[in-house]
Amino acid sequence: MDMVTVRKLKKYYGSGENQVRALDDIDSSVARGEFVAIVGASGSGKTTLLNMIGGLDVPTEGEVIVDGVSLAGLREEQLAVFRRKKVGFIFQNYNLVPTLTVKENILFPLELDGSAPNEDYLKEVVGLLGLGERLCAYPAALSGGQQQRVAIARTLVSGPSVILADEPTGNLDSRNGQNVAGLLKMTAELYHRTLVMITHNQELSQLADRVLYMEDGKLREQRISL
Ligand SMILES: Nc1ncnc2c1ncn2[C@@H]1O[C@H](COP(=O)(O)OP(=O)(O)O)[C@@H](O)[C@H]1O
Ligand SMILES: [Mg+2]
Repeated sequence: MDMVTVRKLKKYYGSGENQVRALDDIDSSVARGEFVAIVGASGSGKTTLLNMIGGLDVPTEGEVIVDGVSLAGLREEQLAVFRRKKVGFIFQNYNLVPTLTVKENILFPLELDGSAPNEDYLKEVVGLLGLGERLCAYPAALSGGQQQRVAIARTLVSGPSVILADEPTGNLDSRNGQNVAGLLKMTAELYHRTLVMITHNQELSQLADRVLYMEDGKLREQRISL
C-alpha cells in the first residue's frame, strides 16, 4: 500500500505574467517503507513538493494523501497533530535548539507532546548514530555531520511514519554527506520508515530505491534533460 500519494497536485505562486508553476500537475506515490530520492535543479519545485506532503503548505489544486488520509480533509488542529506525529522533517541547516543539549534536542518533540521516551529505543538510536558520547554536548560544540545525526535521531525518536529530508547533506563535505545519507538510509530501513530525500548529489541519489526527477514543476521517473 502507498504511504504517500499525490494526485493532480498543483501549486502556483503569483498570477498573470508573474505566475510561477512551482508544482505543475504532479501524480506520484511512494510505497510504505520505500526510499525515494528527488533530484532537480534549484527552483524546480522540490521543496514545495516536500512541504505539501508534510502539510506545511496548501496546494492550489489537487490532493495529498498520507497513510490513507487526505490532508485536505483535516481541520487545523488535526493537521497540527499530523505534522507532529506522522511526518518528520530533516533540513539542510539541522534546526537544532542551540540552548539545549544533544539529548534534550532529541527528546524535544516528545516533550512538546507530553510523551515519555522509550529509553531502550533512545539508547539504540543514539548508539547507531554514534552520538553516545555527545549526549550532554551543545550543538555549537558539534561538527555539521554530528548535528545532522542529532536531527536524524530526533526524527526517529519522535516516531513518524514518513521522514522528509530536504537536502540533508547540503552543508556537509562529501565524506560527511555520504556518512549522514548512509545512516539515514540504514535507520529508515531498520525502523521501517518511509523516506523521501531531496538531494543535488547524483551519488547519494543512488542510495535510494527509486529516483524521481523534478523539472520546472513536473516530476518524472526519467531524466529528460541534463
Ligand atoms: N512562497 C513563495 N512565493 C513565491 N514563489 C515561491 C515561493 N516558494 C517557492 N517559490 C517559487 O517556486 C519555485 C520552486 O521553488 P522551490 O520549491 O523552493 O524549489 P527547489 O526546492 O527545487 O529549489 C521557484 O521558482 C520559487 O521561486
Ligand atoms: Mg529547495
